Amino acid sequence: MTQVKLAPSILSADFARLGEQVNEAIDAGVEWLHVDVMDGHFVPNITIGPLIVEALKPIARRRGVLLDVHLMIEEPDRYLEDFIQAGADIVTVHVEACVHLHRTVQRIKELGARAGVTLNPATPLVTVEEILPYVDLLLIMSVNPGFGGQKYIPTSTAKIARARQMIDQVNPNVELEVDGGIKAHNAAEVVRAGATVLVAGSAIFNKERSVAENVAAIRQAIAEITP
Ligand code: DX5
Ligand code: ZN
Repeated sequence: MTQVKLAPSILSADFARLGEQVNEAIDAGVEWLHVDVMDGHFVPNITIGPLIVEALKPIARRRGVLLDVHLMIEEPDRYLEDFIQAGADIVTVHVEACVHLHRTVQRIKELGARAGVTLNPATPLVTVEEILPYVDLLLIMSVNPGFGGQKYIPTSTAKIARARQMIDQVNPNVELEVDGGIKAHNAAEVVRAGATVLVAGSAIFNKERSVAENVAAIRQAIAEITP
């Protein structure tokens, strides 16, 4: 059984020391780097563009981690090429932002990246049922997207468990990623429900403890659980 992957969200990192912080996380054994792209329209916040992905690309390639790009933007089709050229290995789009989701997913794959789809907490799972055979990843948002450091929405756990059932039935190769409010204290609950990739921002990059200590705490919390 492959181990659960950790995808630290750089949104909570110190951007003046981004390379250093990312290298600390990779030293601590994380597999992916999660990049939260926000446009001020789909979500209230504005964050990262392709330039940051491009800056991370040499580190990611050298150290063998994947760049996991989460697009919280309207009309994501307009920017797929830019992000994939910049180095995105996985591009995840919101079902709420895509009128022709199947076309968008095909385009991501044609451009050479893995395709992910995600849905906001109040969007039912049935909206991804038809696209599951075509994607590499399903991301369950466990907070309303827009900001790091929010509280995990408790009903997400049941949704993750239902997503796991759906994936097992339709396309078992799909990674089940969860994003928002994941900490050492609830990581086990999320993995038990069936997650294979955990995003964590404020639980990994914070002033209380080192990145290495924070990664170790999450790893420890899920050590005994088989997804
Ligand atoms: C939420 C973002 C998340 C967020 C995670 O809009 O998609 O990736 O930064 O941050 P934490 O782990 O602090 O909830
Ligand atoms: Zn995210």
